[in-house]
Amino acid sequence: MALNIAVLPGDGIGPEIIKQALRVLEVLQKEGLEMTFIEAPLGGQAYDQYGHPYPEFTQKICRAADAVLLGAVGGPQYDNLDRPLRPERGLLGIRKDLGLFANLRPAVLYPELANASTLKPEVVAGLDIMIVRELTGDVYFGQPRGMRTNENGEREGFNTMVYSESEVRRIAHVAFGIAMKRGKKLCSVDKANVLETTEFWKEIVIDVAKEYPEVELSHMYVDNAAMQLIRNPKQFDVMVTGNIFGDILSDEASMLTGSIGMLASASLNETKKGLYEPSHGSAPDIAGKNLANPIATILSAAMMLRYTFDNEAAAQRIENAVKKVLAAGYRTGDIFEAGMKRVSCSEMGDQIVAAMS
Ligand code: IPM
Ligand code: MG
Repeated sequence: MALNIAVLPGDGIGPEIIKQALRVLEVLQKEGLEMTFIEAPLGGQAYDQYGHPYPEFTQKICRAADAVLLGAVGGPQYDNLDRPLRPERGLLGIRKDLGLFANLRPAVLYPELANASTLKPEVVAGLDIMIVRELTGDVYFGQPRGMRTNENGEREGFNTMVYSESEVRRIAHVAFGIAMKRGKKLCSVDKANVLETTEFWKEIVIDVAKEYPEVELSHMYVDNAAMQLIRNPKQFDVMVTGNIFGDILSDEASMLTGSIGMLASASLNETKKGLYEPSHGSAPDIAGKNLANPIATILSAAMMLRYTFDNEAAAQRIENAVKKVLAAGYRTGDIFEAGMKRVSCSEMGDQIVAAMS
């Protein structure tokens, strides 16, 4: 059966980086890996065409697909739209619609890029962390939410932080499962000293841990975790946390690796259907200039082959091609250093395609 992949280029640099990822996948396709690609709009691109950031047209294609490959959404021209019509809502909408509760964000430092990090090379050399972020709950989706006038006649904004037991259990199982395949260390991040929601989170994670006696479980308050990620990031193997803390910590972790342009991500549902996207945004300032780094998107395609299609060999082919190209000194602007060969987005694609064979 051919792998049915929905392709959502999105906004800003999205179309350029997606193009390079498709070229890499086409190498595998020519060798006999059967894949079909169906394109659909998301975010601002979808608003322009259909008046909605996640229109029905796109919903149908994504629901029918085995996996979704996404570029990026958002742009300044959409910032003044009503909240429900903004590109970010398209992203939140597809996550919720497809039940993509498990967001995997690996922060891996390639040895060649040790100098690209703002931290000292010895602090980050060899870094390999997997952040598991819950993606469909928490204050992002909790009700009630909104803006109102309170009983004193003053305006206020409010959101609800909430996690049900089943939501915490399923993300904990994903995190323990991943820890079992890696270094068997899991750090659960909470703010249990202040917030009941996360005190509850911790209690459930401790209960789930009974099923994974081989995994060494630790707990850390989110403020301390933010500090420890900078102080000594190599103490972490797998981290698991809720939606809002995971949003923040994963951006922080990305910078340990030098450039957010290197970081892939996977968002999975219970049946391993997944949405794969680079962790960075749509970078409107460099859009259309052929300057973007396509590596995060290409590595996201590798994650797709690994997690949805169980094709570890194909995933490693792509990852090894990326390593080879970095070792050969090719760099896009975001990871450029003196002495290296500066390449455009499409030239980086050329090099990775060539390194595949
Ligand atoms: C991310 C982004 C999104 C989030 C935004 C664009 C809605 O920051 O994927 O981390 O907050 O989840
Ligand atoms: Mg974010």
